[in-house]
Amino acid sequence: MPLQHKDPTKTTAWAALTDHFNNTQTRDIKAAFASEENRAANFTIKWQDFYVDYSKNALHKETRKLLLDLAEELDLKTAIAQYFKGDLINQTESRAVLHTALRAGVEEQVLVDGQDVIPEITAVKAQMRDFVSAVENGEKRGYTGKAFTDVVNIGIGGSDLGPAMVVEALKHYKNHLNLHFVSNVDGDHVNEVIKKLDPETTLFVVVSKTFTTQETLSNATTIKKWFLSHAREQDIALHFAAVSTNTAKIAEFGIDPSHVFPMWDWVGGRFSLWSAVGLSIALAVGYEHFEQLLRGAHDMDTHFKTASFEENIPVVLSLISIWYANFHKAETQAIIPYTQYLSRFSAYLQQGIMESNGKCFDRAGNRVSYETESIIWGEPGTNSQHAFFQLMHQGTKLIPADFIGFKESLHGDIEHHHKLMANFFAQTEALLKGKDRAEVQAEFEAKGIALDNVTQIAPFKVFEGNKPTNTILINKLTPKSLGSLIALYEHKIFVQGFIWNIYSYDQWGVELGKQLATNILSDIEGQTNKDHDPSTAALLKQFMG
Ligand code: F6P
Repeated sequence: MPLQHKDPTKTTAWAALTDHFNNTQTRDIKAAFASEENRAANFTIKWQDFYVDYSKNALHKETRKLLLDLAEELDLKTAIAQYFKGDLINQTESRAVLHTALRAGVEEQVLVDGQDVIPEITAVKAQMRDFVSAVENGEKRGYTGKAFTDVVNIGIGGSDLGPAMVVEALKHYKNHLNLHFVSNVDGDHVNEVIKKLDPETTLFVVVSKTFTTQETLSNATTIKKWFLSHAREQDIALHFAAVSTNTAKIAEFGIDPSHVFPMWDWVGGRFSLWSAVGLSIALAVGYEHFEQLLRGAHDMDTHFKTASFEENIPVVLSLISIWYANFHKAETQAIIPYTQYLSRFSAYLQQGIMESNGKCFDRAGNRVSYETESIIWGEPGTNSQHAFFQLMHQGTKLIPADFIGFKESLHGDIEHHHKLMANFFAQTEALLKGKDRAEVQAEFEAKGIALDNVTQIAPFKVFEGNKPTNTILINKLTPKSLGSLIALYEHKIFVQGFIWNIYSYDQWGVELGKQLATNILSDIEGQTNKDHDPSTAALLKQFMG
């Protein structure tokens, strides 16, 4: 069954939220703390090793109630059940959306077209496990008999960002294999990577759901050519592996059938790291760690399916995002992880969130009359504090932000970790509390600064505060907790897309650019300049001239 089509703005809950927004002062978060007893505890969800504090938000208990009413009125519960049981909720591509099945238990049953997909998933996992251990222990070797030392993941979008983000995030757990990623069709990218490699000891994993993506096929062809300038045609079988739904195309590339890892069209590219697309992850950290990543995601799936909406982390965080996007009209959302290991996390979520919910047509094909997804951005703290935090503290924009931190560090350097986490807590506190004119003045006076200077400078030192944040505090960055964290955001995408009445799992918006690039490439190669707008025609003339 497809997802229902219902305009959220036509619900009773939306009308009540509008009324509440217009008639209640929710932006003064400091005042809410002052007037509401136990606000911090009342707006916190504890689950496994996650502590999610959403008390520093521009909302009251009544706001939360109305947002939860919205989820109830739209019957989110039924939609969640449809998502997990493989209904064709990606209706515009006539597909189920079942990345959750990839981390389900072997005893579970998930049907696609009446066929249980769990046995196939289990078989591919076994193939991955055997392959990874053979590469790790040197059973599989290169064409001169040397063990592999390096692995190159060749893919783009979901076939790159997920593996690249997780390999970086789990660097602490890595084995002896060095991972590299080639994604951009820019030849400088692939050539810079090749420069560092020894063909005798490098394994290449070509990842493409469709196996038709220009960037990936170009990079794979360039790498193959480079490899063949050192080795023989039959050595390709030893050094190349591929992950795709398009197994026929892989054969054309000359990859040995035992190195072909299938995936399925019910796994969206941006949700595919749990499938064989995660082969590079398993190669980097070992198969057991990859399994733990899946286990963590599965636990979050269970939480999402079974917890009441009020205690449900993905549901609550989604409703808060809707509150800001649709009522406060916030344009962006920042995601700031306080660990260098998550340096690729925001980039990964940019695809996951914006490719999914960056839509302006509702599920009936009408243009929506309300806002959908925000612009997602972020960088790890504390680096970001020394870059864009000025604007978050004193700029004119409302920027809700998720702060993600860990109680324990991985290297156990307490001194550094205390400093890092002091900054983590200080930032959300500063964003909330700000500093008023009286405090600024008192600070000046305490330093004995002359009154004239105080009057001149004081206005610029005022922080208004009341800037909203969520704090996600997790015990430790492990494969399992990372799995749960990623799944949290995946489910958040689902809830928001469902409520906004849009299709989250297609990505037609990336097609036009691809089509035009094909035309322009033929112009460049044929030295023609056909059917372009005046600006593009002039630019092409300049480029080719
Ligand atoms: O950017 C569009 C897109 O289709 C993404 O959704 C996908 O992750 C990426 O291209 C790569 O596609 P493929 O895995 O088929 O090469």
